[in-house]
Amino acid sequence: MSPDSARQADGASEIAVGLGERSYRIVVGRGLLARAGELSAPLLTQRRVFIVTDANVASHHLPAVVQSFERSGTRVEHIVLPAGESTKSFSQLESLIDTMLAAKVERGTMVVALGGGVIGDLAGFAAAITLRGLDFIQMPTTLLAQVDSSVGGKTAVDTARGKNLIGAFHQPRLVLADTDALATLPRREIMAGYAEVVKYGLLGDADFFRWLEINAVAALSGADGGHARLAEAVVRSCKAKAAIVAEDERETTGRRALLNLGHTFAHAFETELGYGDTLLHGEAVAIGLVLAFQLSARLGHCSAADVAVIKAHFEKVGLTWRAPRLGPRGAISADALIAHMSGDKKVKDGTPTFVLARGIGRAFLCREVPRPALESVLGEALNG
Ligand code: NAD
Ligand code: GLY
Repeated sequence: MSPDSARQADGASEIAVGLGERSYRIVVGRGLLARAGELSAPLLTQRRVFIVTDANVASHHLPAVVQSFERSGTRVEHIVLPAGESTKSFSQLESLIDTMLAAKVERGTMVVALGGGVIGDLAGFAAAITLRGLDFIQMPTTLLAQVDSSVGGKTAVDTARGKNLIGAFHQPRLVLADTDALATLPRREIMAGYAEVVKYGLLGDADFFRWLEINAVAALSGADGGHARLAEAVVRSCKAKAAIVAEDERETTGRRALLNLGHTFAHAFETELGYGDTLLHGEAVAIGLVLAFQLSARLGHCSAADVAVIKAHFEKVGLTWRAPRLGPRGAISADALIAHMSGDKKVKDGTPTFVLARGIGRAFLCREVPRPALESVLGEALNG
């Protein structure tokens, strides 16, 4: 257990996100959804919550959460949205807010995001703008959401012009990451979330990457001791993210931008493929992480051996790092991907910013990537 996260008597770990009056706790542990009412109670100014979830999560986990709130004397309303990235859209946002307003939510009503990153980002954004801001609690149920999206207050919807281009910073009041919820998560989603775990090692913690090299197969296998290792990976990831968010909440100093390692590439592929099931966000991140290191190696910042180590790790755990070559518009071209990159949020004076690395655990921001190097790395990935 890391010294910066406290182990509770019930075996859960607690990590603080230090943001002054917007500070909150991330609780990581088993059986937390069934205790949602009790754990949220101190934060409720009105004994009323509005739960936003999706159809898959609702079928496995909504009843336990509703019962827990009701047991603690809290009135519960909920909405079940379709599952999948396409739910993170303007039209779903509008209909969600309309349902909340029709239910006459008040400033004291707590919004609860019960689900993966799609639900967390969408419900968080709805909370940010409804009645000029409602409090919300994140109850992440995917590995990706537990290690990344539920922490840090980035909320958003996607548009055809790019991912997450419309959104707001709105910090949750509490994050409850129930690692038992991962038992119902399909293997493909576990693996996709694992890419974001690897990201923390690659961007700033070579020791954590080495720990993953030793422990990831067991953590991801569900074998004996696997759960404890996976929970440890969640805690270490949350601790890394909490520290970065506390330092640079609104991505102004460049520190938080390091969390986007691999994401300039990932978002370009996701935009090209149209946010469907063909390529999950985490899968795109795995591809993007390798491309970011390949670009770094091409520019002489890191060694080809680093790229090989990362590819080998992904292969060992069963996560592909190979880029898709075909999209809905036919063969994917480097030009199309670069065009998507220039619509990214991190563009400055028309040039995309890249997160590159000087080695494993040593990411840095780079605003000057020569287009030929980028074209050549993408060309090899798409045609090599
Ligand atoms: P997701 O929310 O679509 O969940 C993946 C799938 O798993 C869905 O089908 C969902 O219904 C299902 N599911 C969720 N929990 C389950 C459970 N416990 N059991 C069974 N099924 C379950 O996807 P995701 O990978 O969690 O999140 C991806 C999104 O997160 C992307 O939109 C990405 O942009 C966003 N994101 C945001 C941040 C941030 O800082 N806000 C960071 C990283 C990613
Ligand atoms: N996932 C990137 C961030 O939270 O900044």
